[in-house]
Amino acid sequence: MTKNWTLQSWRDFPIKQVPNYQSQEELTSVEERLKSFPPLVFAGEARNLKAQLAEVCEGRAFLLQGGDCAESFAEHHADNIRDTFRVLLQMSIVLTFGGQLPVIKVGRMAGQFAKPRSADTEVIDGVELPSYRGDIINGIDFNAADRVPDPQRQISAYRQAASTLNLLRAFAKGGYADLAEVHRWNQDFVADGPQGARYEELAGQIDQAMAFMAACGISSATAPQMSMVDFFTSHEALLLGYEQALTRLDSTSGDYYDTSAHMLWIGDRTRQPDGAHVEFLSGVKNPIGLKCGPSLAPDELITLLDKLNPENEPGRITLIARFGHDNVEKHLPALIQKVQAEGRKVVWSCDPMHGNTIKASNGYKTRPVDMILTEVQSFMAVHKAEGTHAGGIHFEMTGQNVTECLGGAQEISEEDLSSRYHTHCDPRLNGSQALELAFLIAEGLGNK
Ligand code: PEP
Ligand code: CO
Repeated sequence: MTKNWTLQSWRDFPIKQVPNYQSQEELTSVEERLKSFPPLVFAGEARNLKAQLAEVCEGRAFLLQGGDCAESFAEHHADNIRDTFRVLLQMSIVLTFGGQLPVIKVGRMAGQFAKPRSADTEVIDGVELPSYRGDIINGIDFNAADRVPDPQRQISAYRQAASTLNLLRAFAKGGYADLAEVHRWNQDFVADGPQGARYEELAGQIDQAMAFMAACGISSATAPQMSMVDFFTSHEALLLGYEQALTRLDSTSGDYYDTSAHMLWIGDRTRQPDGAHVEFLSGVKNPIGLKCGPSLAPDELITLLDKLNPENEPGRITLIARFGHDNVEKHLPALIQKVQAEGRKVVWSCDPMHGNTIKASNGYKTRPVDMILTEVQSFMAVHKAEGTHAGGIHFEMTGQNVTECLGGAQEISEEDLSSRYHTHCDPRLNGSQALELAFLIAEGLGNK
C-alpha cells in the first residue's frame, strides 16, 4: 500500500479508460447505494485463494483461470453459467492428471463486465458513437441511446454478479462438482467430439481409482475434497468507482478487501505505475493479477511489484503474460530473469488470447487455436529453460458451442465464424477447443 492510500486516493491519480458519464450526481448516488449492499465475497475466501496461489509460487500447484471476455446481461442464464463451470471442471481434471498438481480454479465470472477499449469511439458507415465498454457501463447495440454510459447499469451488474456467484457456490459445494459425477460433466457437443471420447477414457480411470479408494474406506462421504471444490471469481478491476464501493474493511484483519471478487487483475492498458488503477489495488489485500504485454520493461515490472507487493507476499501477485505467439521468447525471459534476480515471489500465468487476436478475411475478430497453443508452449519452454514454474493459464472461453476461434479438432473455418459468433467482446474458445487445449497443455506439464 502506498503511504497515503485511502479508499479514494486513486481519484487524485491520472486515470485511463474512464466512461464519460453525463451526470456525476447520478453516478455518485449509485456508488453510495452500492456501498450499502452486502459484500459478494468474504475476506477469508480471498485469503484462502492467496494461500493457494502461494503454493503455485512454490511450484506445488497450477492456476486455471477462465471465462467470458465480457459477461453480458443478455446471456445471463443458468445454462451458460453451468456450462462454463463444467468445462472448467473438466479442464481441471485433465490438468490435474497431466501435471500431478492441484489445480486452482478461478472463473472470469460473476463480475467480468467492464472492458478497456483501444479507441473512445467507433465509426460504422460514417456514424461515430462512443465505444462499447461492457454491460456495466453502456449497451452494445450501435445506437446513440445504448452507447450513453448509464450508472444504473452498475446496480444490474452487481445483482447479476450476486446471482451468478450464488449458483457457482451451489455447484461447487452442493454435489455437482463431486468427483463421482466426473462422467456427467461430459455432455452435449463436447461429449460427441474427439475431446469428449478422450475425456471419457480419463473419467473411466478416475472411476477405477475411486472404486479402489472406496474399498480402502475413502469416498466422497468421508473425504469432502472429493465431493466439493473451491471455485473462485475474478475480473478486471477497471471501473474503480464500482470497485471502491465494494471495498470493505475486514474486521478480522483490519485490512481492506475488494469484495466484488476474490481476485482482481490490472489490464495491460491501465498498469501505469503512477496511475489510478495501480494506486487503488495497492491498498486492497486480495490476490492481484497484472497483465504483462510486450511494452512492459523489466525495471517497470519491479517498480510495479514494489508498489503492489512491497512485502513480497507469495500469492499476492499473479503475472499474466500475454505477448502473442511469436513474441514470448523476445519478452518473457528478461522479465523472468529480473524477477528471479530480485527474489520476487510471483505466480507466472499465460494468457494466450490477447496477443493473438487477428481479423479474418470476412472481417470477424478471431483467434487461431494453433497460435493459442503455440503461445502456451513457448511460455512453458521459456520457464523450463529459466528453471521457473509455468504456473497457470488464463483463457477466454465458454462452455457453449460457439464459433469464434479458428481451428481445433472441430476445424472451425473462417466461413464457420458467422454461424455462432456470440461474444460481446473478444473471441472465446468453445467448450471443445478449451478441453482440447487442456489435454495438449497437460501433456506439456507431464513432460516437465
Ligand atoms: C482482458 O483480459 O479481457 C483484456 C482486455 O486483457 P489485456 O488487458 O491483457 O488486453
Ligand atoms: Co478479452
